[in-house]
Amino acid sequence: MAERVGVVGGGLMGSGIAYTVALKSDAVVSIMEVNDELLDRCRQRMGKLIQTGVQRGAITSEQAASLGDRIRYVTDLGALGPAEIVIEAVFEDVPVKQKVFQQLDQLYPPKTILASNTSGLSITAIASVASHPERVIGTHFFNPVPVMKLVELVCGDKTAAETVTFARQFCEGLGKEAVVARDRPGFITTRVGQAYMCEALRCLEEGVGTAEDIDKGIRLAYNFPMGPLQLLDLIGLDTELKIMESLTRDLGPRFDPGPIMRQMVADNRLGRKSGRGFFEYEAKPEKPVKP
Ligand SMILES: NC(=O)c1ccc[n+]([C@@H]2O[C@H](COP(=O)([O-])OP(=O)(O)OC[C@H]3O[C@@H](n4cnc5c(N)ncnc54)[C@H](O)[C@@H]3O)[C@@H](O)[C@H]2O)c1
Repeated sequence: MAERVGVVGGGLMGSGIAYTVALKSDAVVSIMEVNDELLDRCRQRMGKLIQTGVQRGAITSEQAASLGDRIRYVTDLGALGPAEIVIEAVFEDVPVKQKVFQQLDQLYPPKTILASNTSGLSITAIASVASHPERVIGTHFFNPVPVMKLVELVCGDKTAAETVTFARQFCEGLGKEAVVARDRPGFITTRVGQAYMCEALRCLEEGVGTAEDIDKGIRLAYNFPMGPLQLLDLIGLDTELKIMESLTRDLGPRFDPGPIMRQMVADNRLGRKSGRGFFEYEAKPEKPVKP
């Protein structure tokens, strides 16, 4: 298990990953955000995760104190410090991620594993800027990270077998289960999941059912824990829009999100994170995550 872990990007996923790593191991975890304001938001998110864990009896106050001591916050990649693995969770955009990997590749010795939490972008493309692409891999965690069991490991064209072994052991050490996917657009889970969510969007657009009935129908018909539109709200419509547009470019118009999603993102109706998406979240507070 790694003793020092870096996380780049302290948003929804970066915070969840950092929290889970600190909770499930003794590692020192450093998180990097682009400025003090966003770092502060990340610190607050992390505080909420820890507090919720204590309130629910999932972690003791000693564990909470240990987590607080072992999570560090920085605004400079160079200040992340030594690490056996650095996990990137920045915006879903190849050039943005490439810039991060170019810098990480220069900062870290070849034995440090560099992982991307991308939901569907090419690991080969992201790794192409690195002088050691063999240590680059996709570690696709799911939201909410403390709860979701799966990590999809994605092998780029040059990812080494040792990198896959390290990533698998690291994820299993966090109590996760791993599947391995080839580096094809959307991998396994995003490709199949987006097809399902796109079809729900088309049903809404064509007036086949209301948002409530589409979600209720799918939940009860297939025994899913939540409907496709609720899932879009949970993931975030801005993140989803980027994923669907990228899959449309790579795999064709069956992944086109359609006008409803675009308008909602333009109106800042992003789902839970903005309090309103297909459903309202302002009235009742967001249900806390059980670690
Ligand atoms: N939201 C989900 O459910 C989900 C699930 C699986 C994977 N992912 C993937 O995880 C990644 C992050 O998604 P998210 O939902 O956490 O997004 P988010 O918008 O909540 O967080 C992204 C964070 O990255 C920061 N950032 C941007 N550029 C940066 C840089 N150069 N250096 C450091 N920080 C930077 C931003 O300030 C922001 O806080 C994306 O690749 C996304 O596709 C998301």
